[in-house]
Amino acid sequence: MLTGAMESAIVLDEVSVTYPGGERPALDRVSLAVPEGRLLVLVGESGSGKTTTLHLINRLIVPDRGRVLVLGRDIAGVDGVALRRGIGFVFQSIGLFPHMSVAANIAVTPSLLGWPQDDVAARVNELLTLVGLAPEVFSRRSPASLSGGQQQRVGLARALAARPAIMLMDEPFGALDPLTRDELSAEVRAIHDRLGLTTVLVTHDMTEALLLADLIGVMRDGRLVQVGTPEALLARPADDGVRALFEHPRRRTEELARALHLAPGV
Ligand SMILES: Nc1ncnc2c1ncn2[C@@H]1O[C@H](COP(=O)(O)OP(=O)(O)OP(=O)(O)O)[C@@H](O)[C@H]1O
Ligand SMILES: [Mg+2]
Repeated sequence: MLTGAMESAIVLDEVSVTYPGGERPALDRVSLAVPEGRLLVLVGESGSGKTTTLHLINRLIVPDRGRVLVLGRDIAGVDGVALRRGIGFVFQSIGLFPHMSVAANIAVTPSLLGWPQDDVAARVNELLTLVGLAPEVFSRRSPASLSGGQQQRVGLARALAARPAIMLMDEPFGALDPLTRDELSAEVRAIHDRLGLTTVLVTHDMTEALLLADLIGVMRDGRLVQVGTPEALLARPADDGVRALFEHPRRRTEELARALHLAPGV
């Protein structure tokens, strides 16, 4: 699965997962390679296995069979806690620590890693600026005093704090107004490029997927149905389901154009 000289930062090799009590596998022989520096977007219906895939990569769950390689190492033998300190993770729910200030939330992993306090403080300021929050305004605030979009930005800063090479983002822009969502997703792409990250991001928004991704993976019923560039999946969908998914943004645009055209006075 290696493409030319490009190294894969993340490799899933025939990975299967069945949760305790699960009737069928949540993931069924999934193979995937994310080249270093690329942004892969995972799409697919609810329950198709997207979050499970992210949890495999940072060893929140271990597979029943198959291998997961991160930065060339089989993570089966790696301590999960140490692994997760090197991988940024933005949760499906924001998950900030409510009793801690914004600055303390961002400082969690660098502090655990034993960074000197001055370095941690400098890093917090740098990250708040990076995600568009003025440090002097936001450092001391509590998460509950922030808007949803601001909390998402803090979650992003926290995930980036210990300079991970890999970012996993599970619907990071859920529940945001469309303008904030567009702005934040563009910022995530810019940060990904500037920091040279390898990113796996889950979204239900196909327009967002097409705009953000170097590669898109389509999941269905615990399988990876197709993976490729947005252009390749648009041009050569593997089946009618993938075709329908990728036609959705264009169909909506056409419906919108028709609706607006028909609307009186427009
Ligand atoms: N902790 C768990 N215990 C048992 N079953 C689980 C557990 N977590 C997930 N599952 C099941 O595994 C399957 C895949 O779940 P997963 O959370 O990966 O889906 P998803 O694609 O992220 O869905 P969504 O878009 O709704 O977040 C689902 O059928 C789900 O019910
Ligand atoms: Mg999920």
